[in-house]
Order: sequence, then C-alpha cells, then structure tokens
Amino acid sequence: MEEQTALIRLDDINYEFPLILGTEGEKAFDIRSLRTKSKFIAFDEGYGNTGSCLSDITFIDGEQGVLRHRGYPIEQLAAKSTFLETAMLIIYGELPAEESLAVFRKRVSSSASVHTSMHHHFEGFPGNSHPMSILSAMLNALGAYYPEMSSNDRDQDLAHFDETAALLISKVRTLAAMTFRMKKGLPFVAPNHSRGYCENFLHMMFTEPYFDYIDSVGAGDALDLFLRLHADHEQNCSTSTVRMVASGGANLFASVSAGVCALWGPSHGGANMAVVQMLEDIHASGDDGTRFIEAAKEGKAKLMGFGHRVYKNYDPRAKILGKTVEQVLTQIGVDDPLLNIARRLEQSALEDEYFVSRKLYPNVDFYSGILLRAIGIPPEMFTVMFAIGRMPGWIANWKEIAENPKGRIHRPRQIYTGHGLRDYQALEKR
Ligand code: SDX
Repeated sequence: MEEQTALIRLDDINYEFPLILGTEGEKAFDIRSLRTKSKFIAFDEGYGNTGSCLSDITFIDGEQGVLRHRGYPIEQLAAKSTFLETAMLIIYGELPAEESLAVFRKRVSSSASVHTSMHHHFEGFPGNSHPMSILSAMLNALGAYYPEMSSNDRDQDLAHFDETAALLISKVRTLAAMTFRMKKGLPFVAPNHSRGYCENFLHMMFTEPYFDYIDSVGAGDALDLFLRLHADHEQNCSTSTVRMVASGGANLFASVSAGVCALWGPSHGGANMAVVQMLEDIHASGDDGTRFIEAAKEGKAKLMGFGHRVYKNYDPRAKILGKTVEQVLTQIGVDDPLLNIARRLEQSALEDEYFVSRKLYPNVDFYSGILLRAIGIPPEMFTVMFAIGRMPGWIANWKEIAENPKGRIHRPRQIYTGHGLRDYQALEKR
C-alpha cells in the first residue's frame, strides 16, 4: 500500500510530509522538515494540536475518558496496585516482579533521610513561604548533596539513574513533611524506615513528642490511592517542563525542581487548593452552589476542578476519587459539608448547557482536596501532595529524554509581532 503522506500547499508549492501513527491510532504529520523545505513554521499557541515527542509511558484518550500507564488502565492500577509498584511500572515499563519491588521498596525506605545540613536551609525561608516554593528550592538543593548524580554529564547521570529515582521518590516526601513542620514551628520528625511509603510520610508529618502517629483509619491507603492517581499524565504542563529542562542536558534534580514550579499554577496542580477554597467560600456564603454556577457561566468565576485541555469526557481519576472519597470520609469518621456542595456543583454543571456544550467535566482536582483534608493535610500542602504523586511520571519522562541518542534541545520558534527596524535615538533627541 502506498505510504500515506500529508500534502500542504504553500505559496503555490506542494509539500509532502510523512505520517506518524500511534499505537492507539493517533495520527500526526511529521513537520520536522517544514521550515527547511518551505521557510514556513506552524503556529499552535498552547500546543493544543502539537505533539512534542513520541512516548511509551502514558496513553490518554480524552474523548473516551481513557488513561493507561504502559497499557494498564488507571482503573485497574487504582483497584489493585500500590504507589511504589505503579511508580516502577511508569519508570521502567513493566510491572515489577515481587523481588525487584522489594529491592525498590527497601531502596526508597532506606533513603528517606536528608543530610542534617539541609535542616538549616529551612531556617532561610520566611514562615509564610508557600510550600511549593520551598519544595522546588529544596529539590534542586538536594542535587548538590549528590554531585555524582547531578553532574549534567548525561552518561554519568544515567549510570546513577536507579539510585537517583528511588532517592527522589523517597526524599520528596521527607522534604514535604519538613516543610509542613517548619511552617507550623514544629521540630522535624526523623523517618521511620520500618513504615510503608505513605505511613512513613504521615508519621513525619504528624508524630508529636510522646505521641507516635498511628494510622487507625486507613489514611495511608487513601493517600496511596491519591498518589497512584497522580503518578503520570502524558505531556501536561509540568511534565513538558521537565522534558524541556532535561532536553538541555540538565540533571534529574534540576528538571523535577522545574516541574514543581510549573505544577504550582492554579490552572494546573494549584487547582486542588483552589477547589477547596471555592467550596469553602460557597459554604460560607450560604449559597448552595447555584449562584456560583451562574457566576461561572457569566465568566465571573471559574469552576475550579472542572475542565481539561485533553479530557472532553469525565476524567477517569475524578470518577475514581468521586467514588472513594465518601468511603474514605466514612472510614475516617469525617462528615465534610464541602462534599455535599461538591456533589451539588457537579450535578448542576453536568446538566447545564454552558458546561455540557464546552465538555467541561470534573477533573482530578475536583475531589482530591476533600480527600486530603479528611486525612489532615492542610490546603496549602495539596499541590505538594500532587508533586509527590507526579514524581514517578517526571522521572520516567526525564529518562525518555536522557536515553534518546537522537534527542535535541527543545527550542520552539515564534512569530515576531514587535517593532520593525528602528534607529537608536540618543536620549537628548527624545
Ligand atoms: C490538571 O494537562 C493535564 O493533564 C493536567 C492534569 C494532570 O494530571 O497533569 O490533568 C492536572 O491540571 C487538571 C486541570 C486543573 N485545573 C483546573 O481545574 C482549573 C479550572 N480549569 C480551567 O482553568 C481550564 O479548564 C483548563 C486550564 C483546565 C483547561 O483550559 P483550556 O483547555 O485552555 O480551556 P479554555 O480555557 O480554552 O476553556 C474553553 C472554554 C472557555 O469558555 P469560552 O471562551 O468558550 O466561552 O471553557 C470555559 C472557558 O471560559 N472554561 C470554564 C472552565 N474551564 C474552561 N468555565 C468555567 N469553569 C471552568 N473550570
């Protein structure tokens, strides 16, 4: 069968470009030779129609609400896996055998501590610093303690990849808990290597002198599910940032630190905090959500936790969280009025023409904040929790860039719309 190509006619000249077909039938035409051949570039502000890479990690079908990691549906990973097993799947491409999972688990638990001199870094932050600014700074600073893993010599950084991956997945938790404790004016709590990934984090967050944190309500399981649902999500804003930084040859610490900065924005990972703030404001105003929905339709408010660049159907992660949040609240013995408001908002939005016509559905951030609140995580830590969950995805995407021998630095073009050529006018003439 004749090879299919894309034909583009520019300035009365026909140009042909080869097609690229994805595993699940996604189609692209390869325009890597466009400018050389035609002097034209393509313009796609926000990259909504542009593929930046070929990737084997995650597949999303936004129209069908499908999310798979290395071919495994998120629904199955949510029901049967653990965060560390899902992290290995995303990073290494296969579900690990029990033995390799045990080795990874041990490597993660044994690298939970940070160098004591890092404790002093926290003294340099004002008490009202946002946890995401601290996390980004501390992740980059962490690389300074491991020069052999953050050399920016690609072969050397790759030679230490397994160690660096486990170390980052482990220590991002410790740095997050230390940030929480610093802001509360509480002493840091050393990790307890005998505890599981999430239990150890909750221990470092909430253990008090003479009161060891005991998870008697299944908070650790709820947190593990939250982290699994956030582990990777294709070329979202923060993951694309990690790839961009990695493409310049930067090490994994610097790349994930940049990912934290990108995730912080309210349109991205910052939305989970904004959702709870929105629900609290609605609750405090006595509105049952009706007024807020009207304001959103008039463009005067944004229904945070709704809408998505890719999902034009229900975000499968929101569906899972929406189902489990009630169980978790019951298990923990919390009756959160914000959940009822969220349910009412969701119901009215799903029936309202404004949202239906724009295919705006709840996304992963809509229910996640209610779950985190229930296990005692304060709202300003919500996006930090998202970063802990997304760490495996960032690491896996860095690895794809680092291992690509033909990889090039990411350097988009632009269309210049500023002044034409001008002569410098010395100050006295102006
Ligand atoms: C995440 O990319 C990923 O995969 C991200 C993520 C991941 O796992 O990494 O899934 C995590 O970031 C989820 C998204 C969290 N953000 C929010 O919940 C913030 C609220 N949502 C919006 O800001 C918005 O929906 C975005 C940013 C998520 C998507 O923006 P788009 O694709 O650029 O859509 P748009 O802004 O062009 O909106 C299209 C229309 C507009 O109306 P019109 O101009 O057509 O009249 O829909 C409206 C928007 O005004 N709209 C909303 C809305 N989202 C879009 N109106 C009210 N409330 C909203 N939430």
